[in-house]
Amino acid sequence: MSTLFDKLGGQQGIEQLVDEFYKRIMADSTLSPYFAHTDMDRQRRQQTAFFVEIFDGPKQYKGRAMETTHKGLNLTPQHFEAIAKHLREAAAVRGVSPEDTNTAVARVATLKDAILNK
Ligand code: HEM
Repeated sequence: MSTLFDKLGGQQGIEQLVDEFYKRIMADSTLSPYFAHTDMDRQRRQQTAFFVEIFDGPKQYKGRAMETTHKGLNLTPQHFEAIAKHLREAAAVRGVSPEDTNTAVARVATLKDAILNK
């Protein structure tokens, strides 16, 4: 049985998904200012490692917890919805099936309260 990780194309597929994801985030003026001082190569590496883990691939994320990382940013549900939309679009461009996309987005949605610090 193949895992979500496999269905997303493994390590390389998730790397490419993350590239598409941040391309969209950085083109969105409601989100890009939050990353004004961020090293985006590092951010893409961290996000790839994080997605690999939460999408059932090997454990490799060594970054901060979601609560800690996003604390003080005062993020709203609108920010979260925008991010989810960009993830959906990135997945569509990468040829991920609608079913696998829904699974991935649902997985990310379980982190919503932690990321919004609610
Ligand atoms: C799908 C939801 C999200 C996930 C899975 C996620 C995941 C992550 C991860 C893994 C990191 C790296 C932490 C580290 O390196 O220790 C991070 C950092 C960060 N995230 Fe998110 N995030 C999400 C939503 C958001 C949203 C909505 C915003 C705001 C627009 C945001 C803004 C940031 C910022 C500013 C950083 C820190 C970058 C830096 O260190 O300079 N994130 N996030």
